Amino acid sequence: MRTVTASMFTCPLGDDAVLIPRTPAIAAAYHEVFLANYERITRWNPTAGDAPSPEDTRRTLAEAGRAWVEGTRLPLAIGVKAEGGWRLVGSVGLEVDSAAGTGEAGYWLDASAEGRGLATRAMSALLDEAFGPLGLHRVELRIDPANEPSRKMARRLGFTQEGVLREALAFADGWHDELVYGLLAEEWRGATRG
Ligand SMILES: CC(C)(COP(=O)(O)OP(=O)(O)OC[C@H]1O[C@@H](n2cnc3c(N)ncnc32)[C@H](O)[C@@H]1OP(=O)(O)O)[C@@H](O)C(=O)NCCC(=O)NCCS
Repeated sequence: MRTVTASMFTCPLGDDAVLIPRTPAIAAAYHEVFLANYERITRWNPTAGDAPSPEDTRRTLAEAGRAWVEGTRLPLAIGVKAEGGWRLVGSVGLEVDSAAGTGEAGYWLDASAEGRGLATRAMSALLDEAFGPLGLHRVELRIDPANEPSRKMARRLGFTQEGVLREALAFADGWHDELVYGLLAEEWRGATRG
């Protein structure tokens, strides 16, 4: 797989992984890893649309970069150390409603990167930013009840399962319920104070 150059701006996640802004600067590498995981991602997200072309990915990343500058989104890719740079292995992001003081997070990992806490680490960094510099009061997750790995991660991060949006997701096989999980700033600060 294509790597992203080490000279790019990154936010460290320990010694072996980083968060990288999800912008057109990483379009080729991001397109490759997104397409490789397209079925895994769309299995839980019916709004992802058709598999993107390289031009679609570039457009989506340009929009993500603009949203970051405007303060409405925090779009990040997850990279792990590789020769000469970083190999992209997933994504973590936050939709921000600063007027309401709330955000909604999403994430996915390449199959090769699952099972070692990388998504939890990336989400922890995102939540530090959300409840720190961004000053949010509440972050939400929306999860399909059958998505056990994602529900486990929500619990690991201290989210509370708050309710069910009945038949909120239109999948090819019919309507699915959607669980809402919430985490408040004081709960995150309490959990990370140790
Ligand atoms: C949801 C998803 C990101 C979870 O991936 P994951 O690998 O389980 O999550 P993490 O990277 O945080 O790893 C946690 C696992 O690593 C283990 N682990 C190992 N070292 C760890 C560490 N230092 N810290 C935390 N967990 C660690 C945990 O025990 C856990 O394994 P378990 O579930 O068997 O107990 C992944 O399944 C995915 O991409 N799914 C498809 C897309 C998707 O569903 N997105 C979410 C839509 S709501």
